[in-house]
Amino acid sequence: MVSSECVPYVKVGGLADVVGTLPKYLKKQGHDVRIILPKYRIIDGVKYNLKILPYRLTVKVGKEQESFRIKTCFLDDNIPVYFIENMRYFNRLGIYGDDSGIGYGDNRERYIFFSKAAIEAVKAIMFRPDVIHCHDWHTGLIPAYLKTTHADDGFFWNTSTIYTIHNISYQGSFEAPTTLPMAGFSWEDYKSDKLEFYNTFNFMKAGLAYADIISTVSPTYAKEIQGVAGNGMEVVLQTRKKDVFGILNGVDYSYWNPENDNNLIANYSASNVENKKLCKKYLQGKCDFAIDEKTFVIGCVSRFDEQKGFDLIIDAIKKIQHLNIQIVILGSGNTTIRDGLLYLKHLYPQKVSVWTNYNEPLSHQIYAGADAFLMPSKFEPCGLSQIISLAYGTIPIVNKTGGLADTISNFSKDNTSGNGVVFDLYKGEQFVDSIINAYNLYQNKLLWNKLMNNAFLSNYSWDKSIKQYENMYNTAVEKRTAYTIYQIQK
Ligand code: ADP
Ligand code: GLC
Repeated sequence: MVSSECVPYVKVGGLADVVGTLPKYLKKQGHDVRIILPKYRIIDGVKYNLKILPYRLTVKVGKEQESFRIKTCFLDDNIPVYFIENMRYFNRLGIYGDDSGIGYGDNRERYIFFSKAAIEAVKAIMFRPDVIHCHDWHTGLIPAYLKTTHADDGFFWNTSTIYTIHNISYQGSFEAPTTLPMAGFSWEDYKSDKLEFYNTFNFMKAGLAYADIISTVSPTYAKEIQGVAGNGMEVVLQTRKKDVFGILNGVDYSYWNPENDNNLIANYSASNVENKKLCKKYLQGKCDFAIDEKTFVIGCVSRFDEQKGFDLIIDAIKKIQHLNIQIVILGSGNTTIRDGLLYLKHLYPQKVSVWTNYNEPLSHQIYAGADAFLMPSKFEPCGLSQIISLAYGTIPIVNKTGGLADTISNFSKDNTSGNGVVFDLYKGEQFVDSIINAYNLYQNKLLWNKLMNNAFLSNYSWDKSIKQYENMYNTAVEKRTAYTIYQIQK
């Protein structure tokens, strides 16, 4: 796996959860999985006992030779993780940018370097993988390098590539005249069926054009991005339709478990839900809210990003002030969204609490202490937060899109099926109605308990998706073998 994020070392969003968890399940099936990451400054070398490997390697970025070292440790004691260390690119405070939410100006250079360095690292450690699994735009160039600059490199003749789209709205699109030479590709490869994308050089397009297999993180999103949600990539994806897999993410239930979660004031489970009330009290106290069991507490843990539906959330909060509710929001990112939310906190201090940082313990306390969880995303490739909230018996209120549509179904009062509250048109009124709907259900203890129970019983464990991953890896290996034979014959 080559990725820009991975728990527990570095996390901005769900990409990190996936890359830190999927390998554990593959390992359980007997596969030799290894992970390559950038060595960002926040990754604590002492805490993770990083050892330095005896190589001093270089790659060319533009005209410059950039040197790097590899540091290593084990995830879960048995999965090797390799960190690419280069002071210039990764020894900074942020991951993708600084606190203002603006990305670093040299991100294209950083991830060109990282992609090249990952390829050299694999060779240095003499690990010849069957599959290099690349995640998101940061690693989109790797499949392209393997089929162009490294086409004659025997080391990779039996290595296939998979490119996974975690979010099609981040593509890494840059002007071609400077990016192409910086990345070291030839103008021959700058064609519409290869690297070129509407007159730009696009990292994601490189991954989509050259990877043996393409995947994304839910079946519904896989369909959506071949149509209106494709962000320009729909045609590229349609032409590779047969190679596109949509596999739902799982969550790590050993970590996201209210029964043994030590971030909580009290532990609970589906069969012993009484202590959830203590978690709610604790959260109300922490937010300086009145402590009252009857108040409907709504939580939200999210990147502050337009994707997540904050325009609807900000509007809805004003419209539901007449209800006996309290809302607690934790997030970071876009500063306009942050300021909009802070203003609401200022207007309604008894009902709105906003926390504007990345805070792992508080996120657990919100998942546990809230009654319902807001996730009205405009689009959602998979979404993990709604699945986590199910595990904590906290009812997700979601828009029916992408992975949200694949994991949450609307509760029906008639036959008491469904594990959440779902609206299916991205509109303010629909969203407000669904909050009121959830609020009314909460007033009926019998129905609410049934709904909570349905949430607890929902299971999105990796065990379910792992077979589909193995099938995808096998398909990738077969495709690569066929490709190599074809090249040799040519
Ligand atoms: P995305 O990857 O688009 O951000 P997901 O729902 O897949 O959305 O994953 C989000 C993950 O990031 C969840 O594990 C969520 O708990 C976590 N998260 C998001 N924002 C914060 C924050 N401010 N503090 C702690 N955890 C956060
Ligand atoms: C992205 C998506 C999110 C998905 C996560 C992990 O950040 O926005 O929906 O769950 O990646 O695949």
